[in-house]
Amino acid sequence: MASAISLDTKTLKASPVYPPKITSVKALVESTDFSSLPSFYTFTHNLHDELISDDPEDSIPIIDISRLVSGTPEEQFQVIHQLNKACSDWGCFMVINHGVSESLTKAMIASFQEFFDLPEEEKEEFQGSHVMDPIRCGTGFNPSINKANLWRDFLKCVAHPEFHSPNKPAGFSEIALEFSKRNREVVTVLLKAISKSLGLEESYINKAANFELGLQLLAANYYPTCPEPEKAIGIPSHYDHGLLTILVNNGVSGLQVKHKEKWFNVNIHPNTLFVQVADHLEILSNGKYKSIAHRALVNNRATRMSIALAHGPSLDTVIRPAPELADNESHPPAYVELTYREFLELQQTGKLRSKFRLNSEQSKAS
Ligand code: OGA
Ligand code: NI
Repeated sequence: MASAISLDTKTLKASPVYPPKITSVKALVESTDFSSLPSFYTFTHNLHDELISDDPEDSIPIIDISRLVSGTPEEQFQVIHQLNKACSDWGCFMVINHGVSESLTKAMIASFQEFFDLPEEEKEEFQGSHVMDPIRCGTGFNPSINKANLWRDFLKCVAHPEFHSPNKPAGFSEIALEFSKRNREVVTVLLKAISKSLGLEESYINKAANFELGLQLLAANYYPTCPEPEKAIGIPSHYDHGLLTILVNNGVSGLQVKHKEKWFNVNIHPNTLFVQVADHLEILSNGKYKSIAHRALVNNRATRMSIALAHGPSLDTVIRPAPELADNESHPPAYVELTYREFLELQQTGKLRSKFRLNSEQSKAS
């Protein structure tokens, strides 16, 4: 492992510049006994972002989606109503009774762990260089995109419309395929109900986003224990770009969402899927449902792993607000029309936030 790092510890601690050879935070942590944070991981939080709320009266909605499939019409209506409230009040919710078995989720987490445990040289093969590469692993250090300040390693695979995965560790591909498919089924059910919750026909989002060919990304984040967690960040505040993101983790918390200008800790219980509204659902709903700002903190107690499944439109479909929701003077279309691919390209070059909303909601940007 240590071979991944060419600089000795003294150089690392003394140097304010980014060491060129870090392939993962994991290798860095395992090679050295840090008592303080290497300076290039220091992250300055935005001061007015620091309010935290644990108000038990205001907690993330929990939705039993089994009733969408097997419930009476009345029960289905209730769930659709809950989704409407959750998406408009929070932009996120917990899903229970979703049909993705706990053992499959555990196997997926274990398999990602095995991937991150591979020797650095073996992982390097999957590094990828472009954001659209179907398999990409890496770390917060990417000189062309951001500074070396994210305490996080990742592996991202395109799981749909074509499935890609690394060919190791053994069994990874099979588990990843099954896990991605099952979660996609949950999203398919949710998108129908969410369409209805917006007063649209059940298949509206499916058709408008050409979801049959929709992009699904299966990503895992690995956050090693951090010597000074309050000075570092796993992932800074951001919005996800697809329609809906599903998140699970290994029982170690660290995810926070922004709700009513305060940060909330998100504890994802076993057998629960955490679902977030992402930018393209915001666009389709003409802002009725807003994507949620979220971030991942790190800690000094235990390694955290999360899996994020991003479900988006097909890359070449133009996404625009549903005409039914953007039909009069009080609700004009509030978003520019772009294909998902154009959106991602603009986002990568940092040009997006100022362009994506036509209205004056820029202050929402992270
Ligand atoms: C992401 C993300 C949060 C987490 O991967 O986009 O927001 O809890 N992850 O790891
Ligand atoms: Ni995210």
